[in-house]
Amino acid sequence: MKKLFIETLGCAMNSRDSEHIIAELNRKEKYDLTTTLGDADLIIINTCSVREKPVAKLFSEIGVFKKKRKNGAKIGVCGCTASHLGKEIIKRAPVVDFVLGARNVSKINDVVSQRHAVEIDTDFDESSYDFASYRSNPFKAMVNISIGCDKQCSFCIVPATRGEEISIPKELIVQEITKAVSTGAKEVMLLGQNVNNYGRRFTSPDEKCDFVQLLRAISAISGLERIRFTSPHPLHMDNEFLEEFASNPKISKQIHVPLQSGSTMLLKAMKRGYTKEWFLNRCQKIRTLCPEASISTDIIVGFPAESDEDFADTMDVLERVRFDQLFSFKYSPRPHTDAAEYEQQVDPTIASERLTALQARHTEILDEIMDTYLDTIHQVYFDELKPNNKIAGRSDDGKLVFVEGSEELLGQIVAVKITKVSRGALDGIVIGE
Ligand code: SAH
Ligand code: F3S
Repeated sequence: MKKLFIETLGCAMNSRDSEHIIAELNRKEKYDLTTTLGDADLIIINTCSVREKPVAKLFSEIGVFKKKRKNGAKIGVCGCTASHLGKEIIKRAPVVDFVLGARNVSKINDVVSQRHAVEIDTDFDESSYDFASYRSNPFKAMVNISIGCDKQCSFCIVPATRGEEISIPKELIVQEITKAVSTGAKEVMLLGQNVNNYGRRFTSPDEKCDFVQLLRAISAISGLERIRFTSPHPLHMDNEFLEEFASNPKISKQIHVPLQSGSTMLLKAMKRGYTKEWFLNRCQKIRTLCPEASISTDIIVGFPAESDEDFADTMDVLERVRFDQLFSFKYSPRPHTDAAEYEQQVDPTIASERLTALQARHTEILDEIMDTYLDTIHQVYFDELKPNNKIAGRSDDGKLVFVEGSEELLGQIVAVKITKVSRGALDGIVIGE
């Protein structure tokens, strides 16, 4: 049997794309997954282009693949960098056998058999494509609900690499989740660049369904216990959506509310469509409707023209919302984006200082949040065996929890009392059903 080495960078959608790549390849020819580069007959890197660093690393990685691969092994570059650099990749690194864009995953079997094939059509519509099935973890299913993104956030390359937004028909989503549940998944993670904009555009004009209706249809699937989704957009967090989030018992009480900046002026330059006040108002609404919810966010520092006052606004939102999780980034100018052309790019040293200050304050807040978990009881869904008789799972509000236990706990939702807290995770003991 042939062997496949696949490296996945970037977001959850890329992880799902990699699962689709594996499944589609196996439809035609069986591949065993390997983590040893030198054993592979096919080497794939599923790339991310959201910031410059991973793109810069791509060509040095290809160099390593070239050196370490076994004789005759093929190399493929997939994902967002494939979409944005296209045949440039083969020009710079002729050792690459094929390039497959983030919106062309279903064409993997065509490109794998052609030398120097490049498929990067960002208009390609895969919204009704019936992908073969492969899941790296049978207990939790990632399911795409839309492809592409119609926002034009001025810092973001994703609309250029994943194309315009198309929602996947509700029936197909429900069908896919039902299938995943029948093979052991109690949890689903719904994926899209802007999930709460679901239903904005379907390929068929007859299709109609919004995100709340979709959530209700998915909740009706018997055997499914937990619904998560990423990422929603603060602009589309209307009351109806937040009320559904709070009141639907199958929806996990963890929500990502990507801030980007606390300054209304910068939010405008970022073309985010909301103000600092709207953002705070939505987080307040979440806290009122659902005090137990955990809130995570994304923040960019050093966006063009960011002043000390703008950054102070970001710190102010951090103080007020006290995010459970923070993904923070130094602004990275990207091709095909408006912000790359903006004047007044921020001095990288200042941006680094702001990032350090933001992360340091968040760490303090996080330590205080985690301390409140001691001695509390949580329903934990166990999905991964760890070394030393440990087993890992997630509380309903998304915290990583470890207990001592064996595989009987896998796929179970069990009450756990927290006995030890740390910044990244909780330890506990099983106390029952
Ligand atoms: N809609 C997607 C966004 C994908 S990009 C989602 O919500 O997951 C993920 C995050 O990367 C963004 O929220 C933003 O914080 C960050 N990001 C995007 N472009 C960036 C850039 N040019 N520089 C730095 N960070 C960026
Ligand atoms: Fe990017 Fe904004 Fe869409 S961050 S993925 S353009 S919602």
